[in-house]
Amino acid sequence: MKRALYTGSFDPMTNGHLDIIKRASRMFDELVVGVIVNPNKSPLFTREERVRQIEDIVGELGLSNVTVDSFQGLLADYVNAGGFDAVVRGLRATSDFEYEIQMAQMNACLFNPGTESVFLMTSPRYSFISSSMIKEVVSLGGSADGLVPVSILEEIKNKFHR
Ligand code: COA
Repeated sequence: MKRALYTGSFDPMTNGHLDIIKRASRMFDELVVGVIVNPNKSPLFTREERVRQIEDIVGELGLSNVTVDSFQGLLADYVNAGGFDAVVRGLRATSDFEYEIQMAQMNACLFNPGTESVFLMTSPRYSFISSSMIKEVVSLGGSADGLVPVSILEEIKNKFHR
């Protein structure tokens, strides 16, 4: 029984994140999407809103081996306490690589023995997007159709325009 964690801020979850969730859910018996409360970021959505958004989409898609949780503090503490076999991260471009390798190597010193960082290449359809870019485009009246789940896009519009 292999358990993996896919972690990030998900403020909000984009179709790029969702692509990784779908693919990782096929690779592991159990996938936990871990919404991190990152003190370095001022989120648009609360922790509860982000968890609920992801749970709704995962439920609609019938991804029965995927659950959603949230945490704060050191990633390795959460991973070790949860007994995860792997931590999944998406790589969008070579620019992500520098940051991710540094983090993976640091985490290798902190994770319980046997826990691996696993990297999936983001689909080229979504390799250019980030949550911040989506928020900026929508806040300025641009279209993010097809880049974010429809229900989440409505919530972003509501935050900025209603
Ligand atoms: N599709 C679309 N966008 C993607 C993506 C994908 N597949 N993968 C990443 N992104 C975007 C996100 O939208 C996010 O955009 P934003 O910066 O505009 O919000 C950006 O890439 C960064 O993604 P995210 O994975 O959410 O990063 P993060 O920096 O918030 O969190 C953690 C990364 C959680 C792994 C890291 O902060 C962490 O481990 N924190 C805990 C503290 C800790 O343990 N530190 C020591 C680490 S060694």
